[in-house]
Amino acid sequence: MAKRVLTTESGAPVADNQNSATAGVGGPILLQDQHLLEKLARFNRERIPERVVHARGSGAYGYFEVTDDVTGFTSADFLSEVGKRTETFLRFSTVADSLGGADAVRDPRGFALKFYTNEGNYDLVGNNTPVFFIKDPIKFPDFIHSQKRDPFTGRQEPDNVWDFWAHAPEATHQITWLMGDRGIPASYRHMNGYGSHTYQWTNAEGEAFFVKYHFKTNQGVRSLSAEQAAELVGRDANSHQTDLLQAIERGVNPSWTLHVQVMPAAEAADYRFNPFDLTKVWPHADYPLQRVGRLVLDRNPDNVFAEVEQAAFSPNNFVPGIGPSPDKMLQGRLFAYADAHRYRLGVNHTQLPVNAPKAAQADNYGRDGLHATRYGSRHDKNYEPNSYAGPAQTGSALGAPLAVHGWTGTYETAAHVKDDDFFQAGELYRLMSEDEKGRLVANIAGGLSQVTRDDVIEKNLAHFHAADADYGKRVEEAVRALRED
Ligand code: HEM
Repeated sequence: MAKRVLTTESGAPVADNQNSATAGVGGPILLQDQHLLEKLARFNRERIPERVVHARGSGAYGYFEVTDDVTGFTSADFLSEVGKRTETFLRFSTVADSLGGADAVRDPRGFALKFYTNEGNYDLVGNNTPVFFIKDPIKFPDFIHSQKRDPFTGRQEPDNVWDFWAHAPEATHQITWLMGDRGIPASYRHMNGYGSHTYQWTNAEGEAFFVKYHFKTNQGVRSLSAEQAAELVGRDANSHQTDLLQAIERGVNPSWTLHVQVMPAAEAADYRFNPFDLTKVWPHADYPLQRVGRLVLDRNPDNVFAEVEQAAFSPNNFVPGIGPSPDKMLQGRLFAYADAHRYRLGVNHTQLPVNAPKAAQADNYGRDGLHATRYGSRHDKNYEPNSYAGPAQTGSALGAPLAVHGWTGTYETAAHVKDDDFFQAGELYRLMSEDEKGRLVANIAGGLSQVTRDDVIEKNLAHFHAADADYGKRVEEAVRALRED
């Protein structure tokens, strides 16, 4: 097979890619060796800032197919017909560690899904857990600082992790989830995905519903024990990446079934749990799962950097018929992601192939900036309104409005009748088998017993006691036993 000609960035042929040009044999290198200068300079610039959270991840393309009629709840076009298929890209991730971190660790997993719909890209940026640690975005940077490396020791510190949680009783539900059997998924294929937040759907008649998304893995949920995970990390730090890549290369395409819980908007105000509190679930007895469709991943990216590292998901990318709820965490995220992308990838990140719309076209008056490649066509105006043929607004609302009331201020998330920080954590604990409870208690005690301050331990124990008397007693005994060792 004839080899292609190696060239410089400007396309000129390279004569020698093994020896740099020198002033005579053994002499200093010449500044005129363009290929050498360009090669070294380019290499220095290969890294971009990693994501401040969810840095380590894996991605794959696929499609979403509607299996059930949900047009009574949303007018979103990609959900408008049974059998309709939409191309997707999904990036899975761990949260706390840096880009080089290991996969098989106890940590939530990201489940960030882009639907390339014909009404624009819809990003659903979820996790493998239905709830989260906090309920106000103002706490997010502090939370993440406490879970990542300490600025002095340069290590993840149990003191910081548990000190934050000592001050965040609302995290008890998510901690119970994370320290339980599902805390270390066996692979990205063997876990569920959740939108976690409540979102708003609006149907063609303008009626509003609140929904929660559940992607149930068709591979079955499989998890690792702490011991299995430690062994696997030593053997293959990239175990989730290996598993996903190889499964799709073998044609064993993973799939998930999407269900939603649907709440008519009028029921939100009086529901026993605040439906916009991200630390709470809606029990299925209250709002049963309704099937929507099937997500299949069937194609690995050709280039991990271009397509996975440069992938950008924003919870603010909605399509008509789907919009945000007043969940404060979600509202904070509506700002944070695109801001992160502008820093990490630049203002024109939406023009990169993995991020650009595929079934629709971006057409607006945004212009220029670093690395602009989209500029309309000759004679297009760059202002609006105009008297020419440029794009114009539709005048149609994207969704139903949300009712608001009261005065501006810094309020705690409103508590509904059954809301406190512990009831649902206790319910989750009481659902577990005896063996599961034992493993949960051992996992919590393993971390909490390493904390150096007694007051931090006491505050955390109080949260487990408040969730369930037996839960609190067993964690307390296990921590004491480990500290006496
Ligand atoms: C107010 C709370 C939160 C803030 C401020 C926040 C902020 C961020 C930021 C800045 C990134 C990096 C984005 C990038 O550089 O591309 C990120 C990534 C991510 N976050 Fe959040 N986050 C929050 C809560 C959540 C929650 C509740 C979930 C899940 C339900 C979540 C899921 C994700 C996922 C999956 C990614 C990785 C996206 C990807 O694969 O590129 N985050 N978050």
